[in-house]
Amino acid sequence: MKSVLRLATVDPDEQSRNAIKSMLLGVDTVWLEAECSRYEFFIDVARQTLPDIALVNLDSNPQKALQLVSEIAQSQINCAILVISTSQEGSLILQAMRNGAREFLNLPLQLDDFVAALDRLRITVRGNSGEVGSRGGKIITVVGVGGGVGCTAIAVNAAASLATNPQNTPVIIDLDFALGDADVWLDIIPEHSIRDIAENITRLDYGLLKRSLTRHDSGAYLLPRPVELEQDVIVRPDDLRRILALLKATFTHLFVDVSKSFSRLDLAVMEVSDRILLVTQLDLSCLRNVIRTMQLLDQFPAIRGKVDIIVNRVGLDESDISLQKALDAIGQSVFWQLPNDYAVMIGCRNNGIPLPQFAPRSRIARSMNEMVTRFDEPADPTAATEDTGRKRNGLFGLFAGR
Ligand SMILES: Nc1ncnc2c1ncn2[C@@H]1O[C@H](COP(=O)(O)OP(=O)(O)OP(=O)(O)O)[C@@H](O)[C@H]1O
Ligand SMILES: [Mg+2]
Repeated sequence: MKSVLRLATVDPDEQSRNAIKSMLLGVDTVWLEAECSRYEFFIDVARQTLPDIALVNLDSNPQKALQLVSEIAQSQINCAILVISTSQEGSLILQAMRNGAREFLNLPLQLDDFVAALDRLRITVRGNSGEVGSRGGKIITVVGVGGGVGCTAIAVNAAASLATNPQNTPVIIDLDFALGDADVWLDIIPEHSIRDIAENITRLDYGLLKRSLTRHDSGAYLLPRPVELEQDVIVRPDDLRRILALLKATFTHLFVDVSKSFSRLDLAVMEVSDRILLVTQLDLSCLRNVIRTMQLLDQFPAIRGKVDIIVNRVGLDESDISLQKALDAIGQSVFWQLPNDYAVMIGCRNNGIPLPQFAPRSRIARSMNEMVTRFDEPADPTAATEDTGRKRNGLFGLFAGR
């Protein structure tokens, strides 16, 4: 998947600006982050939105526009400048390039030329692979091996924990279309949902996508499940991938709370995820499902190796299977263990206030904070069950000699 480039444009002429906007809607790999109708205001717009590409139309006032080009080039904004004009005058092109433009295209724009220029700029901005650079967000899918194991608690609170750093802009995406309750955990009554986005996928723009998200006081954003319970498939895997690619261009972390049905949609998200958190508890039925789930996920090359096991509610029950025995049975290391703290968790949920605000000093909040710092490390390459030398010892031995 090519990463999406974020573009900001300046063009005082409304007609040509609209022509560019409609062309951009047809290009999947670019995202119109901001538009501006005055050359003198654009530098502030760019400072605020930090686009990958600044698209400057010279025609309304070439002198002012060229001055802007050099101002952007000398700023700390670190974006590639693409200049467009109806003029083919050599001296104008030369001046634009000298002032810091990377590309010059003639108007009217030809789609092929535009896409080719974007691809060249992509390499400037994102390196040779053209893939997501440091500015691209991470997709973290949270999936459970049983009902109520704590997926939503983890997705919401991990996002809230990351949001305590103002540089992070985490989004929670509720893909449990039937019974998802991420909105309850955040005490949000959403006006829009993922359904609005899915229905408008062909004319999706930045404004609509932003309007469909609700920002919680913690700093985390929520893209909620549809309001009504419905049986029809409302989002196709390709559309969902596009939504995620667009969100990824703008937000730092996307936590996807998937259903527990391992549907095509769930698997499509896992394929484009950077990390998959497989949440379990230490009981027999969960551990059996960890093994079954790993066997399923191992069959997908794009998923295998990205799965990290999280053991939730450690210490819940005296009869918990010991972690070591569980590990032997699963044949894979555990990425993180979260302690059991029912009073704090249920308090968070019932009040719709995440851990960093509700109980910042609790053990579970501290453990969650530590866990999220590990998300920036690469997923454990030895995580694939195929590669581990550890032998699975069988589940039914788990209770013996405890
Ligand atoms: N570490 C924990 N300690 C104590 N209680 C917890 C912990 N994690 C989650 N819980 C509690 O477990 C219950 C289920 O959690 P949650 O809704 O997050 O699970 P889920 O996997 O999303 O469930 P579902 O299958 O309904 O989607 C909640 O009441 C929550 O408060
Ligand atoms: Mg849930």
